[in-house]
Amino acid sequence: MTTTDRRALLQASGLQKRFTAGTDAIHAVDGVSIDLIAGETVAIMGASGSGKTTLLHLLGGLLRPDSGILRFAGADLATLSDAALTSLRCERMGIVYQSSNLIPTLSALDNVALPMLLNGSSRTTARAAAHERLREVGLGARALHRPGQMSGGEQQRVAIARALIAKPELVLADEPTGSLDRQNSLDVCQLLHQVAADRSRSVVIVTHDPAVALLADRILVLSDGKLVSEISRADVATAEEVAIYCMRVARRNQVFAPSSPGI
Ligand SMILES: Nc1ncnc2c1ncn2[C@@H]1O[C@H](COP(=O)(O)OP(=O)(O)OP(=O)(O)O)[C@@H](O)[C@H]1O
Ligand SMILES: [Mg+2]
Repeated sequence: MTTTDRRALLQASGLQKRFTAGTDAIHAVDGVSIDLIAGETVAIMGASGSGKTTLLHLLGGLLRPDSGILRFAGADLATLSDAALTSLRCERMGIVYQSSNLIPTLSALDNVALPMLLNGSSRTTARAAAHERLREVGLGARALHRPGQMSGGEQQRVAIARALIAKPELVLADEPTGSLDRQNSLDVCQLLHQVAADRSRSVVIVTHDPAVALLADRILVLSDGKLVSEISRADVATAEEVAIYCMRVARRNQVFAPSSPGI
């Protein structure tokens, strides 16, 4: 890859996000800095409550940080109005939510077509592309089914097809394989990885599964809202090694216990 290809797509520096619940203040994201290069896949791991979803929502502009700097393709997101941020997200990002967030009254096909319709494509073009994305996630035959008529795993695959349809530069996926079996998990992650392999795109996957994390170029570990460890794909060969690495990080931070493939 040339230096131009390796441009930074997303640059986050010192992100902070606090929530208040009653009288408690929760420091969900505490000084996280991440640079994402175009074309790379990054996995984020960490215990429940460590701040993974909050961080993903900050990166996708769904939440605004209390402080810190966030640039997407060079643009400072803090300077954008809510409307401009929403347009940027619709046109250039694809988000797979922790719960699939499909519209229950629409068919799988229309759920997947929605981002293209919102971006101004014709119904025919959007539906043709939606059919193709549904085929890629193995649901070509279920296009006319509504979410309520599908299993949790199928709904999650529809959500992935929806996130990919507008060919976004950045895909943010929150536990995209949480309700899938092992083979479907790996197939879906392979698909996300292919998205990133098209060099202008980046993928961030939040996962508890070491086998899924193994598909990423880098694995980051969050603990109590802080980025406590990072490992490169070149330094781990198997899912077992990822699990062992996570356990070492856990021992050091005394909190993190990932799901492990039988270790
Ligand atoms: N809207 C909110 N109001 C108050 N507290 C919140 C809110 N959203 C998240 N939190 C808290 O912030 C912390 C981080 O939550 P977050 O959802 O980011 O964790 P997570 O790592 O994604 O967990 P999980 O693996 O269970 O999905 C938690 O303590 C959570 O209770
Ligand atoms: Mg979460």
